[in-house]
Amino acid sequence: MQQITLLAPDDWHLHFRDGDMLLETVPATARCFKRAIVMPNLVPPVTTGAMVAAYRQRILSARPSGSDFDPLMTLFLTNQTTAQDIIEAKAAGAVAAKLYPAGATTNSDAAVSQVDALQPIFEVMAEQGMLLLVHGEVTDAHIDIFDREKEFIDRNLTRIVANNPTLKVVFEHITTADAADFVLAQGNNVGATITPQHLMLNRNDLLVGGIRPHNYCLPVLKRSTHQARLREVVQSGSPKFFLGTDSAPHAKHRKEAACGCAGCYSAWSAIELYAQVFEELGALDKLEGFASLHGADFYGLPRNKDCITLVREPWQVPASITLPDGSDIVPFHAGQQVNWRVMGNE
Ligand code: DOR
Ligand code: ZN
Repeated sequence: MQQITLLAPDDWHLHFRDGDMLLETVPATARCFKRAIVMPNLVPPVTTGAMVAAYRQRILSARPSGSDFDPLMTLFLTNQTTAQDIIEAKAAGAVAAKLYPAGATTNSDAAVSQVDALQPIFEVMAEQGMLLLVHGEVTDAHIDIFDREKEFIDRNLTRIVANNPTLKVVFEHITTADAADFVLAQGNNVGATITPQHLMLNRNDLLVGGIRPHNYCLPVLKRSTHQARLREVVQSGSPKFFLGTDSAPHAKHRKEAACGCAGCYSAWSAIELYAQVFEELGALDKLEGFASLHGADFYGLPRNKDCITLVREPWQVPASITLPDGSDIVPFHAGQQVNWRVMGNE
């Protein structure tokens, strides 16, 4: 196949950051995605309706002229979040709230230390029709980093889902067979996003032949058997799984450091790389469901109306990108070939 036309895709999980960085990240996503679920882990985090509304305005101001890209906003949960915060965030346009276990990842120090204490908040969210988005990793120092997702399922997620049958829950950026199988075993109110890096790579791509900081993200890449299971579930076309890049920019010097930041900035090549994965799997006919249908259906939002066309034409991801403030970012898959190109993006 040389060309494939899809209903315009959405990105159901990404990080735009703030300030000048928005002039890079928003156009990079708006070039092909119609909507995106915007993560709230700013400094300080987006914890109130007023912050949701103001952040949304800053994102809208960073859109390229003529773009109708629609940022879908999220609230950052803490152990101080009140029912009123949920109601106000919903009124301010938030469609979901994000649960980060405290310390799990970038800018999550202020997040949730006692998950069970949030049960009354989950109940208000279900009433309000707000989704719960979960970073599913425990953070106890003694739990091996490769086991943190499975441990979170056993300790927390199983109970959250059992206690909240009407709450829609998205298990974000799943990385293990355990997570994929957990999601498949639940009802229609539980779905999951999967990133390009977790479909394309495994932990050898992080550690063999030297540490590769630009492949470091959280949850960390797992062994190849887990990667294979993620590829199987997207290949199956199950509507429980949908596109969420977790595109997460960090300046080059923050990643190429003695203690490097977690995050892959994939916005420049994400839809093209997903197409590459689905092509490898002989499942290009399933790409539209994953990229453009399943997420909107799960969220209860209308499907997009426009289309994008991908053409089979190799190009190379740049080695680095210069930000408005002069600093550099190394994008995901930097310097490597991508087989598909979005028509109109040449
Ligand atoms: O790798 C990651 N980067 N994982 C996350 O959960 C957060 C993200 C970030 O904000 O940089
Ligand atoms: Zn994320």
